Amino acid sequence: MAGDLTVLGIETSCDETAVAIVGNGSPGSRIRANLIRSQLAEHEPFGGVVPEVAARSHLDHLDALIREALRTAGLEFDDIDGIAAAAGPGLIGGLIVGTTAAKGIAWARRKPFIAVNHLEAHALTARLTDDVAFPFLLLLVSGGHTQLAVCAGVGRYVALGTTRDDAAGEAFDKCAKLLGLGYPGGPALESAARRGDPNSYALPRPLQGRPGCDFSFSGLKTALRQIVAAPRGGASQDVVDLAAAVERAICDSVIDRTANAVKWFRDNHPEGRCLVAAGGVAANRRVRAGLAGLADKAGLDFIAPPPALCTDNGAMIAWAGIERLDAGLIDGLDAPVQPRWPLPTQAPPNPAPERAAVA
Ligand code: KG4
Ligand code: ZN
Repeated sequence: MAGDLTVLGIETSCDETAVAIVGNGSPGSRIRANLIRSQLAEHEPFGGVVPEVAARSHLDHLDALIREALRTAGLEFDDIDGIAAAAGPGLIGGLIVGTTAAKGIAWARRKPFIAVNHLEAHALTARLTDDVAFPFLLLLVSGGHTQLAVCAGVGRYVALGTTRDDAAGEAFDKCAKLLGLGYPGGPALESAARRGDPNSYALPRPLQGRPGCDFSFSGLKTALRQIVAAPRGGASQDVVDLAAAVERAICDSVIDRTANAVKWFRDNHPEGRCLVAAGGVAANRRVRAGLAGLADKAGLDFIAPPPALCTDNGAMIAWAGIERLDAGLIDGLDAPVQPRWPLPTQAPPNPAPERAAVA
């Protein structure tokens, strides 16, 4: 990439208002500003994200955050080459707030507008931080999505597997709630797990050892609910032991399914060098360590962005904007928001990972 583009990115798809300014120079100097305002305190009393509260809060804080990002970067709108915003998937109210602000700036300042798919932004973050080359094997594990895919280029994905029920992050969140660990569940469960013994409880690992790259987590949640409902003593040690057992079970499932994808990727894309992890669950230390070991055994490099760039952020939206702008992929000011917007995948690969994995 030429190193001459600077894009402002806006992320409002869930419960974080985030704005970043990113350039495409050398990796260490790309992020000029990356601001995030969490709405945690506003949603905590409800035990989860309330869409109307989220949209109102984005509206209240977005303008100030954009001004602050420009100040932090020492730039003015004239220095910016494009305005990107997450246009989906996500909560419709927040998406409308973010894209409308971006379109307004783009119109007033005569800049290109880029409607970014939030999942693609997660996927491309490893190129922001580490210049990872296409094709790479992608494990996307977030609160709403769990997916294995080959990323062959910007907007070009081949789906290898997805979850049949809950997403990995959803499994962390629901299990954390069952254990009374609060919200958001993933980080809370991870820190409780550090004090527990993962071998103290036997929990299921759905689909483990089976061919293919699909995931399933709902059986784990059900098993945990039954354990929690049964009478027991020593509550606080139980909670940390159960947290450790849940974390290990989710992690084992992720590694097992990803191992099949790694085998398929090596057989079918010998030119590919990297296993990339993206999304909030990729911030988890046990998950990262397991994936690093898997990649190492397969002779692939393992790339996961730093934890703060795995969870939702503005820099990933700005970077996806740069990638799309660089490829000439800009959008009209009539581009819709898309609350349901899967990663744009091509037809399933041939041979499918099912067959490759059992061979
Ligand atoms: O990518 P993300 O910030 O938002 C979505 O696009 O969904 O991912 C949020 C998800 C939540 O389910 C959260 O509990 C989980 O990622 N998460 C974690 C950790 N940090 C965030 N799960 C396990 N361990 C973590 N450290
Ligand atoms: Zn996300």
